Amino acid sequence: MIKNELISEIKSKGIIKIDNFLNSKETLKVQNLIKFYSVPKDDPASYFPTNYKSAFLKILKLNFNKFYHSIQIINIEKKKNLLNFSNNFFGKKSKLRYIDAYYSKISNKEILPWHTDQAYSGKMNISNFNNPNDFFLKIFVYLTDVGPGNGCMSYIPESHKIGYAIREGIFNKIINYQPYWRLKDFKKIIYDNLVYFENYFKETNILYNFLKKTDDLVKLDSNDSYSYEAKAGSAIIFNEGGVHRGSKPLVNDRMVLRYMYSRDN
Ligand SMILES: [Fe+2]
Repeated sequence: MIKNELISEIKSKGIIKIDNFLNSKETLKVQNLIKFYSVPKDDPASYFPTNYKSAFLKILKLNFNKFYHSIQIINIEKKKNLLNFSNNFFGKKSKLRYIDAYYSKISNKEILPWHTDQAYSGKMNISNFNNPNDFFLKIFVYLTDVGPGNGCMSYIPESHKIGYAIREGIFNKIINYQPYWRLKDFKKIIYDNLVYFENYFKETNILYNFLKKTDDLVKLDSNDSYSYEAKAGSAIIFNEGGVHRGSKPLVNDRMVLRYMYSRDN
């Protein structure tokens, strides 16, 4: 079970790390399960049902392995009280939207650069904008060791508050949409609407701290700042509206189990 004190930390920083989120027995179970499929991210076989009812449908399709594995993964979600944590985070009823588990082979291929989610993947012409409160709280459970330059995700603390201000400004038509998925565009939308953002953050140093500390990151996309180490069985929980990047698994293959929540409308 995750301590509720961590709610205030994730609200202020945007990300928390929990060591030993799974015990060794649970870690081994999930490792074996992910190895069984050995599929990459976005592969249809990487997705799992989010409730027992949908898991039972796998029996009807005679997919007994998927049924058995789905029950294991849902049981972990229940045992750790993740929905309760998510409800407390959102301050209202929330919903488990996706579960996936995937295998990334050791690689030096370029991965996602610094970016924010909920930014329409950088597309030019967007007509419908999401409510700024509709975003995912993501729980990544690592089943292999990760570290700087080896498969861990990096995250700029407090940047989720700026991401929220952008989405809120666009949604309420105070500022115009322009692509802001990539860090350099994220900074551009701030500079192009500086009065709005200065006013929004006038009580804090959040805006100027962010602009200052990200100057180098724009130039050096491979910078390992804001990385961390995590052993197999650890978890990170983060607000996807912050600026983050994935690092390539240079040293060993990587296995991840992910639970994704959003508020229930
Ligand atoms: Fe992302």
